[in-house]
Amino acid sequence: MTAADRPASAPAVAPTPGVRVWDPFVRLFHWSVVAGVVLNYAVLEEGKPAHRYIGYGVAALLGLRLVWGFVGSRHARFADFVAGPRTVFGHLRAALSGRDRRYIGHNPAGGAMILVLMALIGLIAVSGWMQGLDAFWGEEWVQDLHAIAANVLVGFAVLHVAAALIEGLRHRESLVLAMITGRKRPASGTDVDHAPAPRRG
Ligand code: HEM
Ligand code: HEM
Repeated sequence: MTAADRPASAPAVAPTPGVRVWDPFVRLFHWSVVAGVVLNYAVLEEGKPAHRYIGYGVAALLGLRLVWGFVGSRHARFADFVAGPRTVFGHLRAALSGRDRRYIGHNPAGGAMILVLMALIGLIAVSGWMQGLDAFWGEEWVQDLHAIAANVLVGFAVLHVAAALIEGLRHRESLVLAMITGRKRPASGTDVDHAPAPRRG
């Protein structure tokens, strides 16, 4: 459609193409968690009030995200992306041989990674909180647990980003951009746009 034959009421700028996949809360959650983890891991002084407030902020967002996983938009729901081990390993095998299908929501391996990242954030928050309790004050194993879980989280986050970039290249779309705009190319061909059946896994 050219400017000349566009109806007067039509917007001058075409709307962003694609289907809505990630709702605003999922995107806010993701980028706030990334910022919070980077700040607490690499910028703020360990254990100081700013570190603790940011850590609790991340934990609060995680709590909301867990609820959203049951009541949120379609692709935000755990039922949409949590699959059993057979499905997860099946997807990984297919990806290694370049035959994996494109998912509109999180793919099964991505879903497993997300559960691991969420569990680690929960463990970090609980062990951080425990460090301030009389019962665990000065307990070295609690401090070690906090530090180790933070390092493991960052290690998994690196894998997570690498996987998102590789998967995006393979399917010719930017998953990172989709986590910003919330939109993806609509499903076509062999793309998967439904909740995986949990019993298959
Ligand atoms: C996103 C969440 C968090 C991340 C990534 C994180 C990361 C870290 C890291 C990397 C350290 C340094 C560990 C070391 O090498 O000894 C640390 C220390 C510490 N964190 Fe966190 N933290 C988080 C949340 C929290 C929370 C919620 C609290 C408590 C309310 C907390 C309390 C502390 C304390 C007290 C220390 C000092 C430990 C010591 O004395 O060695 N953190 N944190
Ligand atoms: C501390 C670092 C990170 C953590 C803890 C983390 C955690 C997560 C979580 C929990 C999700 C699921 C989102 C949801 O459904 O609510 C997710 C998805 C995603 N993350 Fe991250 N993330 C981190 C860093 C990054 C970075 C740095 C990037 C990109 C530069 C990134 C790109 C993505 C993408 C593209 C998705 C969607 C994947 C898909 O399409 O299935 N993440 N991440």
